Amino acid sequence: MSEIILQIDGREVAAESGMTVLEAAQGAGISIPTLCHHEILEPYGACRLCTVEAEVRGRTKLVASCLYPVEKDLIVRTRSEKVDKIRKMILELLLAHAPEARELQGLAQEYGADKNRFEKEPSFCIHCGLCVRYCAEVKKKHAIEFVDKGTKREISFIPEIASKECWNCKECFPLCPTEALQAAFVLTKELAFFSLSSEPVPAE
Ligand code: SF4
Ligand code: FES
Repeated sequence: MSEIILQIDGREVAAESGMTVLEAAQGAGISIPTLCHHEILEPYGACRLCTVEAEVRGRTKLVASCLYPVEKDLIVRTRSEKVDKIRKMILELLLAHAPEARELQGLAQEYGADKNRFEKEPSFCIHCGLCVRYCAEVKKKHAIEFVDKGTKREISFIPEIASKECWNCKECFPLCPTEALQAAFVLTKELAFFSLSSEPVPAE
C-alpha cells in the first residue's frame, strides 16, 4: 500500500491508500464525531454527522469522512462554520426521535443544537444501523433487520432467529447510541411474544 500525505486541520497527516478520511484523522488523533460508524463494521454513511470539508484541486465540497477516501494533497477541515451548521441541524433532527439519548445530548451541547427545534417523533431509533449490521456482519445471524421504508422504517427482531440467538448474545445492545435499554426492551417484548406461541425461552 502506498503512503499518501494529506492535510487535516492544517496538519500534514500520513495515510495509506484505501483509508478513509475518518481513519486518517483518527490515526492522527484528530476527532470527528460519528454515530453510525464502527471500526469493525463496513462503512455505512447513514448519519452524516462525520461531515467535513474536503478541498481537492481548489474545489471544496462537503463529504462524509467515514466514506471518503484519502487522496494526495487533499485538504480537510473537520470544523468550519458550514460543518458545524450541518452537524447542528443533523443533531436537531435526531433529537426529535431520541430526545433523551445521552450521546446525542452531549453532542448537542457541543454544537449548540436545540432539542426542541423539530416536532418530537420519539421512536428512540435514529437508524444508524449499528445493531442490524453487527448482527449480520459479525455474528452472521441476521436476527435484527430494518422493516418498512421512509418515515415508517424501524428495527425489528426476527423472532424465529432472535429466540434462539439473542438471549445469549445481546452484543448489539451497547452499540446503540440512543440507549441500549430501549433495544433490550424491544427484544424482550418480541421474544416474550414469540415464546407464548412456541418453545420456551431459555433462562439466562
Ligand atoms: S436500535 Fe439503536 S443501534 Fe439499532 S439502528 Fe436504531 S439507533 Fe441504531
Ligand atoms: S459516521 Fe459517517 S455518516 Fe455516520
